[in-house]
Amino acid sequence: MQANSIGFIGAGNMAGSLVRGLIAKGTPANTIHIADIDSDKLAELAAECGIQATSSEQIASHCEVIVLAVKPQVMESVCRALNHGPQNPLFVSVAAGITLPQLGNWLGEAAAIVRCMPNTPALVGQGASGLYANDNVSDHQRTTAQQLLDAVGLSAWVDSEADLDLVTAVSGSGPAYFFLFMEAMQNTAQEMGLPADLARKLVLQTASGASALAQDSDVALDELRRRVTSPGGTTERAINTFEAGHLRQLVEASLHAARDRSIELAQESDKD
Ligand SMILES: NC(=O)c1ccc[n+]([C@@H]2O[C@H](COP(=O)([O-])OP(=O)(O)OC[C@H]3O[C@@H](n4cnc5c(N)ncnc54)[C@H](OP(=O)(O)O)[C@@H]3O)[C@@H](O)[C@H]2O)c1
Repeated sequence: MQANSIGFIGAGNMAGSLVRGLIAKGTPANTIHIADIDSDKLAELAAECGIQATSSEQIASHCEVIVLAVKPQVMESVCRALNHGPQNPLFVSVAAGITLPQLGNWLGEAAAIVRCMPNTPALVGQGASGLYANDNVSDHQRTTAQQLLDAVGLSAWVDSEADLDLVTAVSGSGPAYFFLFMEAMQNTAQEMGLPADLARKLVLQTASGASALAQDSDVALDELRRRVTSPGGTTERAINTFEAGHLRQLVEASLHAARDRSIELAQESDKD
């Protein structure tokens, strides 16, 4: 990573994943600093990763990049308490629903801020994140932010902050959609007579195998589907059942609902 010093405020799940990802990709541990009000959690992560446990004040005054990895409810007080002095660090917020205008109010209008929407597979290095930067962020800082999120999976810039609501609906909430689908398949497989552990293994391997096959290919998803759907066969019978149950319309309505809720949540936090 390009930055000489990176500080994390919050040593929870998301910070832990990012730190492990950075170290795995070659960032020297002695350039990573971390602070948390929970001293046990802080000491544990610092010891596991060989990074420097410190205070928010030290991070604010010394680090080139400051990752805000606390829960949305405490973000305002954390930001307002950061006296980041004249060195103009890059702030990277991973908090769901906290907007760039809010962060700018709390950190100062001149602050360079990247807002990210990661997802939970980041915890195992398989995340998908959308990023959006305010106008104060330089090209060098954009590269740094992207390297940070690339350490835990795939990351991509979006064209407007509003697009982060779409990222939230697709990849932010998306893991739960796949869990629901896999849960339904596993339960049915069990009801139909397979042992629970075998049903789980088959469903999980089929999901990751289908994803790997699609990722490894330039072929569109509908064509991949057609290739496993022989006329008159078992897959065709199942697909016809999904179509008759309006699966596509359900997916469409669900993603719209998640997008709308993401917009509402940002508006609610703006009023607080
Ligand atoms: N987990 C995910 O997969 C995921 C996905 C997308 C986005 N995010 C975002 O990532 C952010 C962090 O989520 P998380 O799951 O990592 O949360 P978490 O595990 O609760 O970690 C946050 C840590 O920050 C600490 N903290 C609270 N107030 C603090 C303060 N004033 N100064 C320093 N540390 C403080 C918390 O301590 P206490 O526990 O003692 O309060 C906790 O250890 C959230 O904003 C969330 O929206 C997470």
